[in-house]
Amino acid sequence: MTIQWFPGHMTRARRQIEDKLKLIDVAIELLDARIPLSSRNPMVDDILQGKPRLVLLNKADLADPAITAEWVQYFADQGLKALPMDASTGTGIKEILPRCKELLSHKIEAQLRKGINPRAIRALIVGIPNVGKSTLINQLAGRKIANTGDKPGVTKGQQWIKFGTDMDLLDTPGILWPKFDDQNVGMKLAATGAIKEEILHLDDIAFHTIRYMIDYYGERLMDRFGIGDLPEDTENPNEVIEVMETIGRKRGCIVSGGRVDLDKTSLLFLRELRSGKLGRVSLEVPPEY
Ligand code: G4P
Repeated sequence: MTIQWFPGHMTRARRQIEDKLKLIDVAIELLDARIPLSSRNPMVDDILQGKPRLVLLNKADLADPAITAEWVQYFADQGLKALPMDASTGTGIKEILPRCKELLSHKIEAQLRKGINPRAIRALIVGIPNVGKSTLINQLAGRKIANTGDKPGVTKGQQWIKFGTDMDLLDTPGILWPKFDDQNVGMKLAATGAIKEEILHLDDIAFHTIRYMIDYYGERLMDRFGIGDLPEDTENPNEVIEVMETIGRKRGCIVSGGRVDLDKTSLLFLRELRSGKLGRVSLEVPPEY
């Protein structure tokens, strides 16, 4: 689902999260492991108001494991614990509780010293649409929880989901908006399927992604589409378009007159990328810092 994030929606979404923050001990920030920064809300630090936070790099099954490890280090350097996660199969979810306990260890130890039995940790999942929030909530709950939809205005009574005896999770996630004023970010969100293709031109999304892949995953492209040679200079758009045309020809995306149908080629390429046919691909590496 795509939301038109008007300022009013953002204010409402923010207020909803602020209301939920009062109820919880820890925020679980879900990012897409393939594009951790592009799938991050630009104001998240401010919105979460210093709540202890665990970062989950979700869809790690689709991301390049070596790059995901670099991201884990990147977040560690920023003072944040990050865990690779595959919410669709539940790989990694067992780590959530111990990591949350670590984050709250001071509080838990202080309670134990006073002879108080610590109550279950209360957590809230936050993230932009499509990053896997509902999938993770369902995994943690062990059943399908009714979805309220990714609409920032939609609310219902808060329910807690028990995750073992030590953790309670709010059943409605906090929905954040992406950083859509940056065209590069928009391209990456569209390439991974986080925002609908109609918002941006399909061939633009494929163009940017193929350019990135020539630079970082050239051999994969060559193997998958039987391409003999890749351009050295991806700054030259014509060279990238030539690669797109080669992919189109190899896959029979031809219109009358023998011209390559770039829209069809783009759709096919993006579907193959998203379904993992090009292997585990990350579209973003940690910035120099
Ligand atoms: P949201 O609540 O944050 O909006 O996201 P949601 O859970 O609806 O997940 C969005 C899509 O991402 C879903 O696919 C879901 O299956 C997929 N997904 C979530 N977590 C993971 C993961 O760790 N790995 C992979 N590979 N996919 C994940 P969909 O295409 O919308 O639906 P469907 O394909 O499951 O039918």
